[in-house]
Amino acid sequence: MDQKEFARRRKQLMHMMGPGSIAILPTNPEQSRNRDVDFPFRPDSDFYYLSGFSEPEAVTVLVPGREHGEFLLFCRDRDPEMEIWNGRRAGPDGAVQKFGADDAFPISDIDDILPGLLESRERVFYTMGAAPDFDKRVIGWVNLIRKQSRAGKHAPDEFVSLEHFVHDMRLYKSRAEIKVMRQAANIAARAHKRAMCLCQPGMMEYELEAEFLHEFRKAGGEPAYPSIVGGGDNACILHYTENNAELNDGDLVLIDAGAEHQCYASDITRCFPVNGRFSAAQRAIYELVLDAQRAAIEAVYPGNNWNAPHEAAVKVITRGLVKLGLLKGRPATLIKEQAYQRFYMHRTGHWLGMDVHDVGDYKVGDEWRVLEPGMVLTVEPGLYIAAGSKGVARKWWDIGVRIEDDVLVTRSGYDVLSKNVPKQVDEIEALMA
Ligand code: GLY
Ligand code: MN
Ligand code: MN
Repeated sequence: MDQKEFARRRKQLMHMMGPGSIAILPTNPEQSRNRDVDFPFRPDSDFYYLSGFSEPEAVTVLVPGREHGEFLLFCRDRDPEMEIWNGRRAGPDGAVQKFGADDAFPISDIDDILPGLLESRERVFYTMGAAPDFDKRVIGWVNLIRKQSRAGKHAPDEFVSLEHFVHDMRLYKSRAEIKVMRQAANIAARAHKRAMCLCQPGMMEYELEAEFLHEFRKAGGEPAYPSIVGGGDNACILHYTENNAELNDGDLVLIDAGAEHQCYASDITRCFPVNGRFSAAQRAIYELVLDAQRAAIEAVYPGNNWNAPHEAAVKVITRGLVKLGLLKGRPATLIKEQAYQRFYMHRTGHWLGMDVHDVGDYKVGDEWRVLEPGMVLTVEPGLYIAAGSKGVARKWWDIGVRIEDDVLVTRSGYDVLSKNVPKQVDEIEALMA
């Protein structure tokens, strides 16, 4: 992403913060996996959103109106020996030249420099509680200034929740973000199609997962979350990630897998028959979920509220379950009693962006949030009928279906970013034939 995009975001945030304020944003620490091995590092989303800087051990400081520069970056110093072992570092000079920092310092100097920056400021914008060790340091810097009050030093009076501001910004995707999110969806779309083409009875779930890793890595991306590949009854476990069972002839397989591309996620679920042909019962459930998804997507337009797609999906699903004999009663009553939750136990979506379950409030006060252009959400109704479900005919057992797309709210309605993955029964069967 262009450096101008990050600069624009910082400017917008500093405008909201106003004069006399300072924002402090550390990135997340590295996480040990086992002994000398760390998990692959992925920068904190808020930190990266404002800095574009992807190294660990870094802190962004924004000081609106500061004469000697508003955007300060603390980062690891250059170190030829460490760089031979663990890779290149930008260093403070690189932070200025490549990342547009007005000034940059070695992270090891932060205790000496930050109290001085805080001293002249009234309000500190900071996300408390996300990094308890760093919280203590921030409090320590403030206390240091308080102790010097007799020397005329004045500590900030106010702490303000930084995430409240940054998360609201992140909810509205810019043109550049939408472009990257479309790419993330297209990478995942290629992988879903590849899995449909290659699936055969007798394969292991992890062999299909491997096709996703193949497409994600080929595009320079990685999974946005652990891929779910569940055949047969495993499709009824919502967060199944073992992916270690055999895929059986006659079963459906549910794949929930999305790519992360330049720190932006896609989140796509498709469901298809292992042998390439839907049975009558599988098809009935699948088409009901597809109808519900279509109704929910149609409810995505500016001015409608966040909950409207969910309500639309619930209506279609409840009516359909009554028609199939899986629920008995009047649909309106069943909806009121939430009877559908026996087979549809999650909500219809979530915000999507840098985090797969992205930031942004779902309610404003007591009211559901109104959809506005630039917001991106998933639409993902499902039905899950586990084996042994009481009072449910055996033909429905072990059918788990979810269909999930990534949907951008546009000025006139919606745009499905993940539209390149087939989801009609005949399209899927043709691709798998
Ligand atoms: N992949 C997680 C979700 O669909 O919410
Ligand atoms: Mn999702
Ligand atoms: Mn998903």
